Amino acid sequence: MEATELTLRPMRPADRDRAIEITKDVWEGRDYIPRVFDRWVSDAGAEFQAAEIEGFVVGLQRLRPYAPGLMWYEGLRVAGDHRRQGIARAMLDAAIAEAREQGFHEMRLATRDLPAIRLFESAGFNALVELKWWRGVRVEGGEPARMPDATEVRKLWPAIAASAGIQLYAGIVPDMNGARDLSADELERLASSGLIRLGPGGRAIALLREPWGQNIAVSLLAGRGGSLRELLMALRFEADADGLNHVTVNLPPGHPAEEDLKASGYDFADAENSAFVYALKL
Ligand SMILES: CC(C)(COP(=O)(O)OP(=O)(O)OC[C@H]1O[C@@H](n2cnc3c(N)ncnc32)[C@H](O)[C@@H]1OP(=O)(O)O)[C@@H](O)C(=O)NCCC(=O)NCCS
Repeated sequence: MEATELTLRPMRPADRDRAIEITKDVWEGRDYIPRVFDRWVSDAGAEFQAAEIEGFVVGLQRLRPYAPGLMWYEGLRVAGDHRRQGIARAMLDAAIAEAREQGFHEMRLATRDLPAIRLFESAGFNALVELKWWRGVRVEGGEPARMPDATEVRKLWPAIAASAGIQLYAGIVPDMNGARDLSADELERLASSGLIRLGPGGRAIALLREPWGQNIAVSLLAGRGGSLRELLMALRFEADADGLNHVTVNLPPGHPAEEDLKASGYDFADAENSAFVYALKL
């Protein structure tokens, strides 16, 4: 297949059935694209694209500006019977060229699939953070953790920046919906959205992200010991109070919080596989 036969155009509502058909064999039928299709297709703030060969949709991808200079790349899919013909590579190259032309300085993405990892690495992307998924189920009876305001969280920044294991995050918040740079400004932004929880004395912190299911999702932990354990329990209480099943935490392997997770009733949701955040300087 020659990449020149491939055209990219905006996804349309009428492509819905075909897009869903393409995602049927992805992740044992648990692809999230069917759930987000309507939102993505009507979102003018991002580019949801269909790749066509002779008028037939064979792939999809999305480019989403999400922070100054940063483009998030997501939703790459190629139809099962069109794989290994260079289509994904041609789509990704076009996406990179477009982000570059638009003046973005970096493109980031999250993935956990080996074919995609090979593709992104061969296109020059670097893995910033590796993440393992932990899960703690809801527990009844305790108090949810405290939510700091923007002023308070800014004061905590120096301690967070110096905390054990923070270097494993490589300067980013590994939010699977768009990994921003980890900074005092980012903490303020998250606090303003109610997405930060503190342990006793402010000696442990959890940064939350928008969850994909009926759960609380943690994208970054800092701190350790008693304060962190209380915070991790408090998140399980909060899940219960909110009628959610569990808390998921993504954590770089080797981070000192692993011990505290185990001590607070958390376990691997998936011990074998890792997710990664990749980045390409444009
Ligand atoms: C990943 C995916 C998009 C690749 O699409 P594709 O059009 O088959 O990919 P290409 O033919 O352009 O291959 C580009 C490179 O990807 C890698 N790759 C693709 N499929 C692979 C596989 N099955 N095993 C190992 N590497 C693979 C290779 O490095 C390949 O280069 P090569 O052919 O020169 O060796 C496609 O397999 C897919 O839709 N998978 C399911 C959804 C998914 O995992 N999406 C990515 C989420 S981030």
